[in-house]
Amino acid sequence: MPSSNSPSSFVIVANRLPVDRVPGPGGEEIWRRSPGGLVAALEPVMQAVDGAWVGWAGQPGMELAPFSEDGIRLLPVPLSAQEVQEYYEGFANDTIWPLYHDVISPPQFHREWWEAYVRVNRRFAERAAVAAAEGGTVWVHDYQLQLVPAMLRELRPDLTIGYFHHIPFPAHGLYAQLPWRNQVLEGLLGADVVGFQRAQDATNFLAAVKRRLRLEVKGSSVTVTHGGPRTVTARAFPISIDTTPYVELAARPDVRARAAEIREGLGNPRRILLGVDRLDYTKGIGHRIKAFGELLDQGRLRVEDVTLVQVASPSRERVDAYAQLRDEIELSVARINGDHDTVEHTAIRYLHQGYPREEMVALYLAADVMLVTALRDGMNLVAKEYVATRGDQRGVLVLSEFTGAADELRQAVLVNPHDIEGLKDAIMQAVEMPAREQSRRMRSLRRRVLDNDVNAWSRTFLAALEQARNDR
Ligand code: G6P
Repeated sequence: MPSSNSPSSFVIVANRLPVDRVPGPGGEEIWRRSPGGLVAALEPVMQAVDGAWVGWAGQPGMELAPFSEDGIRLLPVPLSAQEVQEYYEGFANDTIWPLYHDVISPPQFHREWWEAYVRVNRRFAERAAVAAAEGGTVWVHDYQLQLVPAMLRELRPDLTIGYFHHIPFPAHGLYAQLPWRNQVLEGLLGADVVGFQRAQDATNFLAAVKRRLRLEVKGSSVTVTHGGPRTVTARAFPISIDTTPYVELAARPDVRARAAEIREGLGNPRRILLGVDRLDYTKGIGHRIKAFGELLDQGRLRVEDVTLVQVASPSRERVDAYAQLRDEIELSVARINGDHDTVEHTAIRYLHQGYPREEMVALYLAADVMLVTALRDGMNLVAKEYVATRGDQRGVLVLSEFTGAADELRQAVLVNPHDIEGLKDAIMQAVEMPAREQSRRMRSLRRRVLDNDVNAWSRTFLAALEQARNDR
């Protein structure tokens, strides 16, 4: 492995490094691979090529020298406490996140947050410019870093630059609210290839580019005039998961035994329903709980027969909208449980915690019905994880139409989560679905997920980037 100072021909730039600082067995702090879609998606790619990863270590005020972990060279970008507040919690997660998720929560627009976003994006771009070898490839990720592609191109015109947007890109009518709408588009157009989850996201982006910047758009190509004519490709590359660990864990006897133990622990209900989400207002957790509560109220479901297990992992807790959401969800869970629990049975087993992958797979195996009811979601990898684990061809996926995954997973029970009556009917359909129909649908879902895993995704994106390099 080259020293951590030698430039790399392949560099990933993402807000977070793919590791967390956690207490080790002896009380000392150690690095551990962090959970989350982006990390899970990119780790196999990084280990296969000798890449470097530029990102934030997840704690304010931490200055760290470059280091290696699990075969990946990590180049930390420091953020001060104020920058965490203004760039990460503020502009990224309280302006862009709600705006791009169809203003489910009202976006906050603050000029100081924008200024911090520009400053921090420049720091990431400068770090990447130092890390990348002459003529190398840099792949920038997600909404926290939309200005990096253009900043990096300015510093290093020799590089081939890709950008992948993991979350939705909104329709122009919403996007137009952003006071810095032109700057963000110009930032993204610094890349040679701008990738989105769904065709609709790419269409929305291209429409915004045409309308706001008056650039020529033909199909998926934009001709950028600034700094000499250049072509940018914008199209969909739906992300997936690394299916191998899910398939393998699901076959392990100890994990299967754990799934049986989970069922037992819940009083062996006839059906277990499962929700797994970051505790985020985009995920439709409240809608799901409301529908489930009404089914119990109406006697269409009985607490002796069904339990909803809701894993809601803590997320962005210092952002007001998230703190409020937690209160709302916990109030409604407590009300439903108070009304319906018996001494032996619980309606909702609510877990405000994160779990290791083994435990998640055991939960997926224990679940007869997986509820993914997001109001808006770039992709939703949980849906794909559930499908990957069900080699037994059992289980039903209830999936919101407003997820990127719904474009691919057509054999799921598709729902509009805003329609509570429709959601209730979909839950009943899933609870009562005959084994033969479960297996017919699951077979088709699995084929889709297993044939289009994260390796296929990154190969396709990098091939498009290579094509862009050759076409220059
Ligand atoms: C989404 C985003 C990622 C982000 C993740 C976790 O999946 O697309 O960029 O890393 O959520 O959120 P956090 O704010 O904890 O990084």
